[in-house]
Amino acid sequence: MIDIKKSLAERVRPLEASAIREMFKLMGQADVISFAGGIPSPEVYPTDILAEISADILKNNGTFALKYGITEGYAPLIEQVAEKNKSQGIGSGCDVTIITTGAQQGIDLAAKSLLNPGDGVIVESPTFVGTLNSLRSYEASLYGVPVENDGMDLAAAEEILKTGKIKLIYTIPTFQNPTGITMSLEKRKGLLELANKYDCLILEDNPYGELRFYGEELPTIKSMDKDGRVIYVGSFSKTLSPGMRVGFLVGHEDLMDRIIVVKQANDVHTPLISQMIISEFMKQNDMNAHIAKGCASCKEKCDAMLAAMDKYFPEKAVYTRPEGGIFLWVTLPEGTDTGALLRKAIERKVAFVPGNSFMVDAAKPSNCFRLNFTTATNEQIDTGIKVLGELLADELK
Ligand SMILES: Cc1ncc(COP(=O)(O)O)c(C=O)c1O
Repeated sequence: MIDIKKSLAERVRPLEASAIREMFKLMGQADVISFAGGIPSPEVYPTDILAEISADILKNNGTFALKYGITEGYAPLIEQVAEKNKSQGIGSGCDVTIITTGAQQGIDLAAKSLLNPGDGVIVESPTFVGTLNSLRSYEASLYGVPVENDGMDLAAAEEILKTGKIKLIYTIPTFQNPTGITMSLEKRKGLLELANKYDCLILEDNPYGELRFYGEELPTIKSMDKDGRVIYVGSFSKTLSPGMRVGFLVGHEDLMDRIIVVKQANDVHTPLISQMIISEFMKQNDMNAHIAKGCASCKEKCDAMLAAMDKYFPEKAVYTRPEGGIFLWVTLPEGTDTGALLRKAIERKVAFVPGNSFMVDAAKPSNCFRLNFTTATNEQIDTGIKVLGELLADELK
């Protein structure tokens, strides 16, 4: 047997297997109530419509659908995405839109194209684990900035920017993963001003933005950007299907020109058949009406989870009340280890994601955890939250 581990590149050695991916294994066990997932309720997938569209594409345009496509993406879909984005003020004269294999690839391509080893990146603390691992794999230096109730702590961000080490700021301003928090309008403007002042780029990740069920819509940071300083990542994963793996990236033409070559070396193009199905779905259906259905389901589940938490959780457990998206975030008193809590919860067949997974320093135990409210049934929500409430009451007494 050879020791293949000694051949591994330094940059992949420290990568942690995603706790969430590990959770997927648990989610497959029928008797586990999982609050660990990351998608809206699968009940809202329009499976019948997609079945008809897929059959039609393969029957009438199969040879085209099964061939290689172009790296930038399926032209009609690019146009539809760009048109929709334009209606939200996204994309100025210097911007180009491409289709990516999920938002995850958009993030990874941007990181790969921009970052040299050691380049500084500001991320929210906590933030999306898929981005942390992508940035780690390019050996970026990560600086976590706390997330307040109205988004990233800009004063803390500026202290880091003053060091002159930061090239990129990564943010999920709307219904943030994992906290469910939305950045205020004032902070959105403030963050763009900071990026201008310290001449760095912003990577705005917005896969949940359309899943708003309370409050007023806020403009994206990208919509305020007139000179291509903001790179914008979107996805169909949370509105249509994560398994189709279709997302998009909007950015300055000079950056996108490089990113297209990088994508070519990565996966040549996003599966054409997925792109064609989505394009046809958007053509034949009212996408906004479809998203509204998904939102209604998210709202119902969020209300159910918060009602159960209000009923069963002890006062010392503090949690966010999201206006949209699919996650909420629980903070326990300092010193509580939610990794240990998860082990006890799993014994009682309930799963969540402990907070350390979302931190720059994932090895340090966290007193926080993330709950997804969209994949369990209302009955499971009540049962699972009751179990967590009992464990918390025991832990925090
Ligand atoms: C904030 C954030 N960005 C990106 C992604 C990746 O999404 P996709 O399925 O489009 O790759 C996720 C998935 O959970 C996410 O939460």
